[in-house]
Amino acid sequence: MGAFIYIVAMLLAFIAAGNSCPPSDRAALLAFKAALHEPYFDIFKSWTGNDCCHGWYGVHCDPTTRQVADINLRGESEDPIFEKAHRTGFMTGSISPAICKLERLSGITIADWKGITGTIPTCISSLPFLRILDLIGNKLSGEIPIDIGKLSRLTVLNIADNQITGRMPRSMANLSSLMHLDLRNNRISGTIPINFGKLRMLSRALLSRNQIYGQIPSSISYIYRLSDLDLSLNKLSGPIPASLGKMAVLATLNLDGNLMTGTLPATLLNSSISILNLSRNALEGNIPDVFGPRSYFTAIDLSYNRLKGTIPKSISEASYVGHLDLSHNHLCGAIPAGSPFDHLEASSFTYNDCLCGKPLRAC
Ligand SMILES: *[C@@H]1O[C@H](CO)[C@@H](O)[C@H](O)[C@H]1NC(C)=O
Ligand SMILES: *[C@@H]1O[C@H](CO)[C@@H](O)[C@H](O)[C@H]1NC(C)=O
Ligand SMILES: *[C@@H]1O[C@H](CO)[C@@H](O)[C@H](O)[C@H]1NC(C)=O
Repeated sequence: MGAFIYIVAMLLAFIAAGNSCPPSDRAALLAFKAALHEPYFDIFKSWTGNDCCHGWYGVHCDPTTRQVADINLRGESEDPIFEKAHRTGFMTGSISPAICKLERLSGITIADWKGITGTIPTCISSLPFLRILDLIGNKLSGEIPIDIGKLSRLTVLNIADNQITGRMPRSMANLSSLMHLDLRNNRISGTIPINFGKLRMLSRALLSRNQIYGQIPSSISYIYRLSDLDLSLNKLSGPIPASLGKMAVLATLNLDGNLMTGTLPATLLNSSISILNLSRNALEGNIPDVFGPRSYFTAIDLSYNRLKGTIPKSISEASYVGHLDLSHNHLCGAIPAGSPFDHLEASSFTYNDCLCGKPLRAC
């Protein structure tokens, strides 16, 4: 009998939990919905009735707290609604600050809707449980909320492919859980915060295609989990910190399309880096003769710089060199024979001062 009552009580608790949606969460969701317009799929059609935790497209509640924990709205997802319609999502309107009343939110994904304008609500930085903020592929403008560093649990910050302006706020270095930072293709200017190296959990830092200037802080090399650093197509200047070549797991380093000066640090050629793009900068001096068994490059692009001297012989001692581009420099002398040069085409070597030998004309 006791067991029976217990099971009934459990069932009742389960049903109660299942049917819950705090009225304040429901009101916040409806205010959020009211600021958006989605003409093609009517995804918000399901946002009716009292129970926002069940059947509301893209809304998920925490089973324990019974509050809204996730908003997951992707305009280019695997969801069959997009396949059936043979088109991707499109949405206009803006992200209402009402979203900040969902105080238990741990994930906000409002991605690839192409037409959402307005700013990132500044109140987002007061959502203490937020782990994922993914707003890629909209038309958001304005600045990154200045207090974003308060989000101590944030692991993913992705606002790529928008029209964000302003600087990276200094507080960003306080995002102590951040693993994935993607700010690519915006209009962010200013310098990289000097204490960026405090982001010890960071494994991908993608800042490409902005207007970021100033020097690369060498503190970046303290981020020992960093495997992918993409600072390409900005206005960065000054020398390349040699310490980047000493990082334990850095595999991709893209600094192409900046204003980097100074010489090419030897450390980069004998490191864990396997994709190195330094193309279109103003690097001078020789290519250091330090390739060795640790050098394993799927791609190394040094084109469009001011490198001079000869191609180092040690490059034949690299474990692997897939793609190599040394074109548009001031290199001179004979192209070494043998691996990896036997599979490279002339375009890897053209527009230098006086390189010769296969695959160019004989010396
Ligand atoms: C970063 O966090 C520390 C400690 O909580 C705080 O004192 C500091 O003001 C924060 N920095 C910024 C720029 O917000
Ligand atoms: C390196 O960057 C340049 C300029 O941004 C780009 O054109 C080139 O394709 C890149 N090289 C490789 C190997 O990806
Ligand atoms: C390459 O790096 C290793 C380990 O950091 C070091 O021991 C070695 O001397 C370096 N080789 C050259 C040619 O600089």
